[in-house]
Amino acid sequence: MARRLVVNVDHVATVRQARLGVEPDPVTAATLALVAGADGIVAHLREDRRHVQDRDVRLLRQVVHQHFCFEMAATQDMLKVALDVRPDSVTLVPERREELTTEGGLDVLTQMGEVGEIVRALQESGIRTCTFVDPDFEQIKASHRLGAEAIEIHTGRYAERGPAREDELRAIGDAARLGSRLGLEIGVGHGIDYRNVGPLAALPEVTEFSIGHAIVSRALLVGMERAVREMRELVLAG
Ligand code: PXP
Repeated sequence: MARRLVVNVDHVATVRQARLGVEPDPVTAATLALVAGADGIVAHLREDRRHVQDRDVRLLRQVVHQHFCFEMAATQDMLKVALDVRPDSVTLVPERREELTTEGGLDVLTQMGEVGEIVRALQESGIRTCTFVDPDFEQIKASHRLGAEAIEIHTGRYAERGPAREDELRAIGDAARLGSRLGLEIGVGHGIDYRNVGPLAALPEVTEFSIGHAIVSRALLVGMERAVREMRELVLAG
């Protein structure tokens, strides 16, 4: 499968929500990212609507023809939104109101019933389902048992470690190999930036890179087109 860079536009919405206005529009940012070569767009509609709004998700579905990935908590309320919007894929993430951003992987193992129900409902509607998990073998096997088509491996700890990240990289590589052997598509995401993406891009099993903050931050200074193009080159270089 060809490798994809999917650009998360949540932080464009964060800037807009700072003034509760209409600019900058994450939908416009998404179209610019696609023109620059992004292979897809991601948006996370949080329960508290702190950045992305319902209107954004509906418009994104209309303008993103390549690959629109909807990130959501594994709840019945969010399932209703997903079934209505019909993204190409859903990534199930844990969500806590007090967190700054998604802090850990989804605990699939202890919520097999609830998560399984949501995976089944999405699949019956033809929506690809992915679980966002730590590089933990048991969580990956549980995701496979539930019938998810893909996993996104949480790279937050790898990103936080800076140069002392060999252990984390090894864990991500082992997790990617296990997932791939089980027939899952493998993505990575969280905290990936222009400096730390290289070793992840060298992992052959990884087919999807979900990146937001680093691209949106760079886009502020050099423009979306250049920010996406430079990241895509790094992702494909692996
Ligand atoms: N993947 C998932 C599941 C996420 O929750 C996030 C953060 O919203 C990202 C990827 C993107 O992380 P970052 O903004 O650090 O690139």
